[in-house]
Amino acid sequence: MTTTITPPVREILLDCVRTATAAPSVHNSQPWKFRVRGGRVDVYADSSRHLRVLDEEGREQLISVGAAVFTLRLAIRSNGYRCDYTLFPEPGEPDLVARVTANRPAPVTAAAEALAAAVPHRHTNRWPFAQIPVPREALDRLRDAARREGAVLAVANPAGRDAVLRLARHADQRLRRRPGYRDEFARWTGDRVRNDGVPPRAAGPWDALESVPVRDFTEVSAQHQNGEPFEPYPTVLVLTTASDRPVDWVRAGQALQRVLLTATWQDLATMPISQPVEVPAVRWLLIEPGSGLFAQMVLRVGYGRTTEGTPRRPLSEVLMPSHDSRTDGSVRARRRASGGSV
Ligand SMILES: Cc1cc2nc3c(=O)[nH]c(=O)nc-3n(C[C@H](O)[C@H](O)[C@H](O)COP(=O)(O)O)c2cc1C
Repeated sequence: MTTTITPPVREILLDCVRTATAAPSVHNSQPWKFRVRGGRVDVYADSSRHLRVLDEEGREQLISVGAAVFTLRLAIRSNGYRCDYTLFPEPGEPDLVARVTANRPAPVTAAAEALAAAVPHRHTNRWPFAQIPVPREALDRLRDAARREGAVLAVANPAGRDAVLRLARHADQRLRRRPGYRDEFARWTGDRVRNDGVPPRAAGPWDALESVPVRDFTEVSAQHQNGEPFEPYPTVLVLTTASDRPVDWVRAGQALQRVLLTATWQDLATMPISQPVEVPAVRWLLIEPGSGLFAQMVLRVGYGRTTEGTPRRPLSEVLMPSHDSRTDGSVRARRRASGGSV
């Protein structure tokens, strides 16, 4: 028996790519590029958008690209196509992070539909959250979201939360002393009208209780934020993986976006706190010694006010030409780390 594969038309895949660009990224650097060819989309890391001071190894860049890969997979599924993916499909091309293939039509599941509906409503929320505890069932769904993407999400207990926040504040101070940090930060923040970076309107106030380490995205702008008391007992989550290779960072990014969208679907506000994972000496302290896990991201979740989105680059800036002779030939067939489905 022969199976007929009906890939989506190019316009549908372009729409899916546009949706993928709504993913979160470190400093809204949007460090990705896409190539659409037939029924597949190749997702690349854009090295010109790598934050070399903050993210020397490129870990957060790959987390950001991973978040875009998950969003792309979700968009394809919610458009009614089965979706397969391979991470780092070409051994000689480390910037080619994922090959996502849309093949035959498949019914859209309620879960995919719900997560896809959350994509335009997910925004980083740097404002105080209400003093309402996040229910256990909601946290269980977030943990399950991470697990489905091969990561582990831990909910900090009160002592763990205080320790993580303390480490985050300490890391924030160390980062400010890192040579080149301020100049790099200035490139991605400030008042200029543009379609990347974090605009001052997306920056929240600083915590008047000096507990939550909100990254000060107005630091280099003319506008300065006021202090406001944040929730005294924030819900803090730590996203971890079982190993710490580039493929794990991409998985962590996919898990991050699945967790964030699952939170958004549950009306939970979210704020990544990455300072403690940006200082290696601090990053190791986030995890119990001997647990065998590697901290990839810290998150704060809760019930917050509505926030606006940040800008995104147009499709024309992130699309690569569809033809590339280098990837023609039998090497295409090779598969390394394989993925799964939404
Ligand atoms: C790897 C990574 C690290 C991030 N670190 C922080 C952080 O430390 N503080 C923060 O406020 N936001 C952080 N963010 C959120 C980004 O700043 C945010 O995704 C980006 O500005 C786009 O805005 P949006 O999330 O509202 O779409 C991080 C996001 C990613 C993917």
